[in-house]
Amino acid sequence: MNIFHISAECYPIAKIGGLADVVGALPKYQANKNVSATVLMPFYNNTFTQTHIFTSIYNGTITLGHEEFDFRVLKVNEDVLEFPVCFVDVPELLYKNFIYSYDDAKRFLAFQIACLDWMLTLDNRPTIIHCHDHHTGLIPFMAQECYKYEELNTIPVITTIHNAQYQGWFNYDKFHLIPKFNNENSGLLDWDGQINPLAAAIKCAWRVTTVSPTYMEELKKNANGLETLLSNERNKCIGILNGIDTKVWNPETDSFIVENFSKTTVQSGRAANKKWICDTYNLDINKPLFAFIGRLVGEKGADLLPEALKIVLESKQCNVLVLGSGEKQREEALEAIKVNNKGLYNTYIGYDEKLSHIIYAGTDFLLMPSRVEPCGLNQMYALRYGAIPIVRSIGGLKDTVIDISNNGFGICFNTLTVKNIVDSIFRGIALYENQNKFKDIRKSIMTIDHSWDKSAKDYLNLYQSIN
Ligand code: ADP
Ligand code: GLC
Repeated sequence: MNIFHISAECYPIAKIGGLADVVGALPKYQANKNVSATVLMPFYNNTFTQTHIFTSIYNGTITLGHEEFDFRVLKVNEDVLEFPVCFVDVPELLYKNFIYSYDDAKRFLAFQIACLDWMLTLDNRPTIIHCHDHHTGLIPFMAQECYKYEELNTIPVITTIHNAQYQGWFNYDKFHLIPKFNNENSGLLDWDGQINPLAAAIKCAWRVTTVSPTYMEELKKNANGLETLLSNERNKCIGILNGIDTKVWNPETDSFIVENFSKTTVQSGRAANKKWICDTYNLDINKPLFAFIGRLVGEKGADLLPEALKIVLESKQCNVLVLGSGEKQREEALEAIKVNNKGLYNTYIGYDEKLSHIIYAGTDFLLMPSRVEPCGLNQMYALRYGAIPIVRSIGGLKDTVIDISNNGFGICFNTLTVKNIVDSIFRGIALYENQNKFKDIRKSIMTIDHSWDKSAKDYLNLYQSIN
């Protein structure tokens, strides 16, 4: 079986969030003697592409409406990735120092057309095309409907929805950019009077997956406008829980963290990482540390965090560190709390992969007050590094974190309110005071198995069922 994963992000090449982590891990766990899994992604102008040497394996030209753009398919020369990656280089549109920005409809349409044009030329075509999120949402449609791709329409196409909040909508003024097809079927592209790539993918893909079973159920009731579509298509939809890459996220070998540790050395290892955080961010090592890592947007509950943190910090019983970036207003509100809470509160507004690893390794608790969380990887990284997650029970958080009061290991709440965030943090402070119980939980969570092994098999079974 020859699987092509098509995605805008892939760790360690280009990452904004969990999409990159998933696409950078799943192929490793799918490959075996009968299965190869290749990632197709855009060639961006970033540290990875600037510091490696590439060979062109294909040169072509794509047509986007009345314009033509040269493109190449590249492979990296050195053996630095643990799975094959083909980079689609459309220099004028994709080779930028960002992943997402203005004009993404045109940029990602170019990417998708180049992927399909190139596939037409291959002797060894994929047996499965696995698309990720709306940036690749027109592939299921184009492979099925566009005249020029007729030869590809027998290849099963799967779409995974990592986040249905973002659908890639664009207006009909770009309709002409899509290669020719029978216009009677243009309804497949439409949702609510706009071209909607995610809706088109849900309609045309052979199977649709989401990244946790609970999120799949939630989407039928709340999917940013796509509820009825997902309900109608429910027979081809399935929720498969993400895993984590236990080769990258391993406290025993992680080269980003200050001191490595195992279950038996967790006490001293975590203490060293916490000390580094407290020294670097001027926090109090003797108090419990609560951290937040993520995009500072409403989906992650970042709008309620400042209010909740102000209340908690007034008690002077804990430290809080926030690592994230996103909406300006949220960033400023979180920065503003610093003034009155020196020595107990700090922020790093920005993206820092190394710091995120150190935080998982050193924080006592990880906060995830998400409004929407299709899966969430942070809580699984926290568990593996022995940090206790505090989560709103929604989506994948509900599938992966069980409250201590239910014989579990985390702190959970149902309704997203400032009060519930505050109360949950105080539950954490109380747990920290009971050091025996706190340390027992910390040790036990490190052994919970969230590796990709099971979910990678679930995907393979799904592919087999339609092949
Ligand atoms: P989402 O994809 O919705 O942002 P996930 O929980 O699936 O959420 O994945 C987030 C990923 O991005 C994790 O690997 C997390 O550590 C990382 N991350 C998020 N924000 C930052 C940041 N500011 N700096 C470093 N890593 C971050
Ligand atoms: C999305 C979701 C997140 C999920 C990630 C990987 O970004 O917001 O919950 O973990 O994709 O599937």
